[in-house]
Amino acid sequence: MAKTRTVFRCMSCGADTPKWVGKCPSCGDWNTLAEEIDTPSSAPLVAPSAPVAITTVGTADGQPVASGIGEFDRVLGGGLVPGSVTLIGGEPGIGKSTLVLQLLGARAAAGAKVLYVTGEESPHQVRLRAERLGALNDHLLLAAETSLPNIVHHLEEQRPELCVVDSIQTLYDPQFSSAPGSVTQVRECAHRLVQVAKANGTTLLLVGHVTKDGQLAGPRVLEHVVDTVISFEGDRHHALRVLRAQKHRFGSTEELGLFAMAGDGLEPVPDPSGLFLGDRRPGIPGSVVTPALDGHRPLLVEIQALVTKTTLPQPRRSAQGLDSGRLSLLLAVMDRRAGLPAAGMDVYASAVGGVKVLEPGADLAICVALASALFSHPVGEHVVVCGEVGLGGELRQVGRLDRRLAEAARLGFRRAVVPRSAPEVDADIELVRVPSLSAALHALGLADN
Ligand code: TYD
Ligand code: MG
Repeated sequence: MAKTRTVFRCMSCGADTPKWVGKCPSCGDWNTLAEEIDTPSSAPLVAPSAPVAITTVGTADGQPVASGIGEFDRVLGGGLVPGSVTLIGGEPGIGKSTLVLQLLGARAAAGAKVLYVTGEESPHQVRLRAERLGALNDHLLLAAETSLPNIVHHLEEQRPELCVVDSIQTLYDPQFSSAPGSVTQVRECAHRLVQVAKANGTTLLLVGHVTKDGQLAGPRVLEHVVDTVISFEGDRHHALRVLRAQKHRFGSTEELGLFAMAGDGLEPVPDPSGLFLGDRRPGIPGSVVTPALDGHRPLLVEIQALVTKTTLPQPRRSAQGLDSGRLSLLLAVMDRRAGLPAAGMDVYASAVGGVKVLEPGADLAICVALASALFSHPVGEHVVVCGEVGLGGELRQVGRLDRRLAEAARLGFRRAVVPRSAPEVDADIELVRVPSLSAALHALGLADN
């Protein structure tokens, strides 16, 4: 019998401490230590593989296989690489099970043998959902299992091309006494699954829950075990879901997949800018469109602001889909550099459509929306603005202006207010180059005189 002792293990980074402390000494996260029985890990012996000359290693491996779900393949640079291990993380309820079931259905429809290990839902529930999603197929095998040895058995016996484990937090290995979801279980089960999948040539997709406060053990302790980490994000009150790669051994992490959650599953969103601007009402003060960039993807987003007299001793500052620290900074710059004080005013600013625009390239749009709201003067319907605002009130360039403006031109925008140093762009749109925030506001008719 192996000797056991109790340790306190961080659910974020997996580090151990002998005593409980409020803040993990390793990663600095608060309230993440949980008591666990520390059983020495019993990594199974693996046959040694002899070193080979690098030139003799084949190059045929590593080619991604398209899943048939375009937005998913886009994020991975073409699809899942055979034999690779991918972790998909996201908050509960965001749509991870829906996405993986659609993925399995698409691969099964293409004739591949796929296995869905579900630890959270009953086979009955999964079947009902698969019916709704149009994912019913004889090649799609279902195992309602949480015990690791059983799953390993299925993998070895069935040798599926693709296996999805939903979710890694529900698995347990009876060798270890900790509860499912604990760092030990998550880490050891993932290690073992990865070994078995690699040995059988199975592509493995692990689903992991993360909550905003990081209370579930998961993605962070697994990041180094897997080849690819993708996150599935979105605002539950909006249909939009964003899939992005955080780590990808086989390609870039710049691409973005966009889905909308509909009644019968996730639908691709090929024209996100159209989606965001669909309900826009031009001519309202406090609104302006900016060509934001997420990864490689230009998104035209409406930024809105509302400014009202406060009734509170401390005026309210609210930012939705925008960086609230950035909003305070921009209010200070507007006050000192453009003579637009918002003291004594409640300020609300938001990016419309459930999208997050955290890049500094949206600074000018936030300022213009605020000024437009303060003056109750609308910005022209066909105008976009883009630029980073410095503390001196100067406008700075943003990356990939050509891509951003090409997208703006495509959607019918005709004028763009941009920093003075902006490069020439090959887009059918008039550029208004301005050196500073106050010059930009003048150009848009948003100044006192
Ligand atoms: P789910 O995939 O179960 O989320 P996760 O696995 O990340 O916890 O889906 C969550 C929500 O999606 C659920 O509350 C209902 C909604 N949904 C739809 O709107 N349409 C659908 O077709 C499906 C299957 C789910
Ligand atoms: Mg789920």
